[in-house]
Amino acid sequence: MTKKIAVLPGDGIGTEIVEQAVKVLKALGEDFEYEYADVGGVAYANHGHPLPPETLALAKEADAVLFGAVGDFKYDTLPRALRPEQAILGLRKNLNLFANLRPAVCYPELVSASTLRPEVVSGLDLVIVRELTGDVYFGTPRGRREAPDGPFKGAEEGFDTMRYSRPEVERIAHVGFRTAMQRRKHLTCVDKSNVLETSQLWREVVTEVSKQYPEVKLDYLYVDNAAMQLVRAPTELDVVLTGNLFGDILSDEAAMLTGSIGMLASASLNEKGTGLFEPSHGSAPDIAGKNIANPIATVESAAMMIRYAFHMDEQADRIEAAIRKVLSDGIRTGDIWSEGCEKVSCSGMGDAIRAA
Ligand code: NAI
Ligand code: MG
Repeated sequence: MTKKIAVLPGDGIGTEIVEQAVKVLKALGEDFEYEYADVGGVAYANHGHPLPPETLALAKEADAVLFGAVGDFKYDTLPRALRPEQAILGLRKNLNLFANLRPAVCYPELVSASTLRPEVVSGLDLVIVRELTGDVYFGTPRGRREAPDGPFKGAEEGFDTMRYSRPEVERIAHVGFRTAMQRRKHLTCVDKSNVLETSQLWREVVTEVSKQYPEVKLDYLYVDNAAMQLVRAPTELDVVLTGNLFGDILSDEAAMLTGSIGMLASASLNEKGTGLFEPSHGSAPDIAGKNIANPIATVESAAMMIRYAFHMDEQADRIEAAIRKVLSDGIRTGDIWSEGCEKVSCSGMGDAIRAA
């Protein structure tokens, strides 16, 4: 059956990198239909809103969304509701994208580009599964008030509420365990259950859900220890399952293990297992229009799209194998280039992956 892909390139390097991903997808020879729409700054410029109704309707109706990046400094003065970045929040909310998957892989060829020592990152291949719609970012009540108690009683204070409900933890736990089943069958639950009530519930629910996945080895880390282990021995991790706040911080930390932001893909999934697939980086206005951006994060996101939304594991493996082949052939964009390698443009990298 035809799979319809909503292609939303967005701003800056978005157009260039998404074009490479589409190029690689087309080379698979599958029955995919591509429908393009504006999102972000370009959508504001053309339609007066960063997430126009037509774009949202397309995203909802499609089998998956392939997203580039949004944002440009020239929109910085717009009111918050009209800024390009609002499009991402709107899509997350409207498509109910509650699960964010961010793999961090250190390809052997790029070990030297990592911020860590080769012996630490060599063989790194983990994925952070982050809950995306709950936690202290969205919990109410929140706001400003007079402190009701404590040593500064009566002083102005800001407060937020950390909340997670049982079903909310259950559904993200299932995503975590299903992801682990497709990988090395090892899941690490990251929380702060020595201090937080939300984390105690989180750990309890994850432990219960784990009974449905007897093949998966489950262990636990407090988030502070997890931050340490990520730089001490990241290769010991496979799937890291955590909440919105902890996942936000840990996934940026994990990003630095891999070499370049241009290598990092991400998937945001909903209950149906479909969702939005995008590189972790932004629109990089400093290099936009120069055909020098690294498209690998976007190509890898397309691989995740067909793996998670279309269940085309074999085709996704082919794309990932092609990325590895190109890297081991010494083909590099500027951000990952080193002495002795062949430097290619953004489209050159797309062509090389397609050929592989
Ligand atoms: P950025 O990720 O766009 O760029 C950070 C640095 O990394 C820049 O020097 C850029 O040239 C480089 N870079 C990023 N992607 C690259 C790639 N594929 N290949 C080679 N180099 C790459 O973050 P920045 O500069 O903070 O934000 C720029 C704009 O992007 C802002 O408007 C921001 O709000 C937006 N943004 C959008 C996101 C999204 O669409 N999901 C995520 C993050 C930022
Ligand atoms: Mg972040």
